[in-house]
Amino acid sequence: MSDVRPSPSVIDLPADRTLDGYDRWAASYDHGNPLVALGERVLDARPLACAGLDVVELGCGTGRNAPRVLAEGARAYVGVDGSPGMLARAAGDDPRVRWRRGDLLAPGPLPVDAASADLVLVVLVLEHLPTLAPLAEEAARILRPGGRLRIVDIHADLVRAGTRAHFRDGADELRFTSAAHDAAAITAALAAVGLRVTRADDVVADAAAIAAVAKLARHAGRAVLLDVEAIRA
Ligand SMILES: C[S@@+](CC[C@H](N)C(=O)[O-])C[C@H]1O[C@@H](n2cnc3c(N)ncnc32)[C@H](O)[C@@H]1O
Repeated sequence: MSDVRPSPSVIDLPADRTLDGYDRWAASYDHGNPLVALGERVLDARPLACAGLDVVELGCGTGRNAPRVLAEGARAYVGVDGSPGMLARAAGDDPRVRWRRGDLLAPGPLPVDAASADLVLVVLVLEHLPTLAPLAEEAARILRPGGRLRIVDIHADLVRAGTRAHFRDGADELRFTSAAHDAAAITAALAAVGLRVTRADDVVADAAAIAAVAKLARHAGRAVLLDVEAIRA
């Protein structure tokens, strides 16, 4: 018997089906994605520096980043996501952790108090947002004065070159609709709500990254992630 899987049917998810797509991806999301693995390396190399802080993650998915935040000594972590399926995978009964369902593109504020966080974290979410204004406004609302925003996301050049979040679900290959947001656009969207970008670093698929994450070889030499930090005045 052959173990070769038949060619999948490619399904392009329209933008308004993104959260449905994540509901379908949830069961297998945490396995083997090279950009997720590279994002881990970025946060290992430059930690969140959140000891004693209140942290909110927007687009927290399965809560993959919560253990990191707690290991760094955060006082509390609130994970917000629009996909019930992803949130259902977020586990644990740590009293410092809370999960909230909220759609960044729906009208009105997310279910997180204003001025309740010292750090807002966003990892691999921007490509799903056709416009950055709602995310920027919510980050500014949720952050206390002096609070920081950290974004680690797919690089706009990679999105423009055709890479987008995708996954195999049985016989189907589902591909999300993706938007490219470069550092200048992110800086402008954040500046409009009083968040000043202090650093915007390209993360390149260099030899060390490829040695650690072999699947990055197809992007060798290219910027694959963007690592941004901003502060609320
Ligand atoms: C690639 S996953 C990243 C999850 C997590 N940050 C991580 O690093 O593993 C993108 C997440 O963004 C969420 N998302 C996408 N669009 C969203 C929206 N409009 N509102 C809230 N969450 C959204 C998805 O449900 C998904 O969990």
